[in-house]
Amino acid sequence: IPVASCDFVIFGATGDLAERKLLPALYHRQCAGQFSEPTRIIGASRSDLTDEAFRDYAREALAEFVSEEERDHGEIDRFLNRLSYVAIDAKSDGGWDKLREAIGDSKAVRAFYLAVGPSLFGPIAERIRDHELLSNETRIVVEKPLGRDLASAIELNKTLSSVFREDQIFRIDHYLGKETVQNLMVLRFGNALYEPLWNSAHIDHVQITVAENVGLESRADYYDKSGAMRDMVQNHILQLLCLVAMEPPSSLDADAVRDEKLKVLRALDPLTGEAVHRQTVRGQYRAGAAHGGAVKGYLEELESGQSDTETFVALKAEIGNWRWAGVPFYLRTGKRLAARASEIVVQFKPIPHSIFEEAEGQVIANQLVIRLQPDEGVKQWMMVKDPGPGGMRLRHVPLDMYFAKAFDVRNPDAYERLLTDVVRGNQTLFMRGDEVEAAWRWIDPILHEWQGRPKDIAGYTSGSWGPSASIGLIERDGRSWHESI
Ligand code: BG6
Repeated sequence: IPVASCDFVIFGATGDLAERKLLPALYHRQCAGQFSEPTRIIGASRSDLTDEAFRDYAREALAEFVSEEERDHGEIDRFLNRLSYVAIDAKSDGGWDKLREAIGDSKAVRAFYLAVGPSLFGPIAERIRDHELLSNETRIVVEKPLGRDLASAIELNKTLSSVFREDQIFRIDHYLGKETVQNLMVLRFGNALYEPLWNSAHIDHVQITVAENVGLESRADYYDKSGAMRDMVQNHILQLLCLVAMEPPSSLDADAVRDEKLKVLRALDPLTGEAVHRQTVRGQYRAGAAHGGAVKGYLEELESGQSDTETFVALKAEIGNWRWAGVPFYLRTGKRLAARASEIVVQFKPIPHSIFEEAEGQVIANQLVIRLQPDEGVKQWMMVKDPGPGGMRLRHVPLDMYFAKAFDVRNPDAYERLLTDVVRGNQTLFMRGDEVEAAWRWIDPILHEWQGRPKDIAGYTSGSWGPSASIGLIERDGRSWHESI
């Protein structure tokens, strides 16, 4: 379904995000017929480029980040024709008149995408206001880091809300745009099957793993100041936890969903003091193997050769409410792990009584595995009888729905869905300011407790599943990590 016509203004248009994600995503949406005319894309950054040079830049971005079979000459030309460029200095008034001129008196939706560092969010927001670029149909899109602790997140929310209404602020967490993450809501609330069992009476524990096999990828400047907790847990992983744990919202309306997620964040049992050391594990990768070759350790990748930044976190979280009391949520994420594998595992409790004492094989408790990437899909592990007359032989098998096989369609990148929602003005898959703050409120004491204890960061070999203490964290409770490959 086409969306309204739009003027996309991308600040940081010559940066990494625009090149790898935004321009390709917009191109795909054009190919899908989702643009209404006129839709324009205005690049803005400090570099002094002509429109032509920006189009060349975009052509190269598409050549690199759109697969060959999806590149169509006609579509690419049509796409490049939408592009224009304005050199702008976010920190002074230079160039803003040109942007005003480029937008003109367009009545289209106006989306300002701030693909720039957070220190520029405030200056850009204020200049958008001061140069009278606000219209009723204006939206602003920002992406992490949305603060580096609670205080800075509050400050950032204040700055944004001094210029924009909350319904104009689109805070991206790109995990919410992933197909399987959206599917999680359909799985839970589109089936009568799961909801009655979705609580501490029937669920033993939940695991959320976001494992990556990449390392720093020339992002040392950003990553070394953040670490896995700020980079992945505060946002992506807590968002996944919210979608698993929230109460059924009354509708898909943005605030209905976000109210429920907020309640989960607020119900997380605070991790403070000694509990932090018992319930969290930090690691940093050492040299090892990845992608079939030898790779350097984290410290060797840094110019300084020194760092106390964690590239791995595992932790045990608990939610203090009626539905989840006593059900641990084990979370882990890390770089340079054995595989790229992100999944949510819901482990059900064992059956209360077995009538299969005489049978061959054991009854194993049900498990639901929601695979986010790669090989998106859902596996429901269950017990069946091995076919044949040879007696009662029990088998543990998956009811397996592998989306690529079940639906023969391309899997769109998260940004495609999210950018379309920006134009639609639909905030269901975007974080509200209070959610971001609630997540930091839970994370802050953990970071605080970690400070000054660099020795607690365990080295782990690249290509492994992280420090052995991560296995200890879950095995201490008589459980084990699901084998993701
Ligand atoms: C980003 C993090 O938000 O998510 C990166 O900053 C990480 O460090 C990336 O690699 C993972 O995203 P995806 O979509 O590849 O799972």
